Amino acid sequence: MKNIFEFAEACLHRADIDEKLALTHQAWQLLQSQRLSLDSDRPVLPIVNVKFPDRPQLLAPRHMPQRKLTTPDGLIAFFHAIAHVEFVAIYLAWDILYRFRGLPDQFYQDWLRVADEEAQHFALIRAHLQSMQIDYGDLPAHSGLWEHATDTADNVLARLAMVPRCMEARGLDVTPAIIEKFKKLGDDTSVALLTRILTDEVGHVELGSYWFKFVCRQHGYESEAKYRELIREYYKGGKPKGPFNREMRIIAGFSNAELDWLEN
Ligand SMILES: [Fe+2]
Ligand SMILES: [Fe+2]
Repeated sequence: MKNIFEFAEACLHRADIDEKLALTHQAWQLLQSQRLSLDSDRPVLPIVNVKFPDRPQLLAPRHMPQRKLTTPDGLIAFFHAIAHVEFVAIYLAWDILYRFRGLPDQFYQDWLRVADEEAQHFALIRAHLQSMQIDYGDLPAHSGLWEHATDTADNVLARLAMVPRCMEARGLDVTPAIIEKFKKLGDDTSVALLTRILTDEVGHVELGSYWFKFVCRQHGYESEAKYRELIREYYKGGKPKGPFNREMRIIAGFSNAELDWLEN
């Protein structure tokens, strides 16, 4: 029987993209056929061991190419940026299940499903880039995404607050308007791709909320107060900026009180 944490180590500590996609899918298949062990007897290696490919070159956001959806270069830059978000999301899903042990089996099963969905998102966007004669890695990408993981490597609640309940939740706020723009441009392929991703992402944020509240209950924390505390501590700049997609965030497990606090 193969072990989930062996797969996690391979996916986090090796840079090869195609191997990572294949292993992620294989692990998910094994889990579904009850042939994946969740036994946790291997040590957790530090987050500095996580390895990314040499390309794309990672640069500060100000060095990112323009992403105007109405020009061919802007469109390519936009989808390259999305590919990078999805690629890092594969790592983020593997890392949360790898680094934080002692939670119920469902925690590991849930985040493995997320890893597989992120791998699918990445593969879809990469194929779309390839149809525009470019590959993932050909442009520089945003260096900041992984920082949320390294900042929260020792705190599962901070990880859940910052990654699904902040970064991924941001996707719920901004993606619907981008889908509308593509609709107006008559770009049905982009509409279909982003709609598929948005649907799955609601589920990822929802899992983030579920496990955030679960771990809060385990420790006797009041979850709304804990969320505010962790965002204040870990979000550089104090608080994420709106506008927030209230409707989708409520579906994804945010409370009205949390949304009021974010908005004010
Ligand atoms: Fe995704
Ligand atoms: Fe996601």
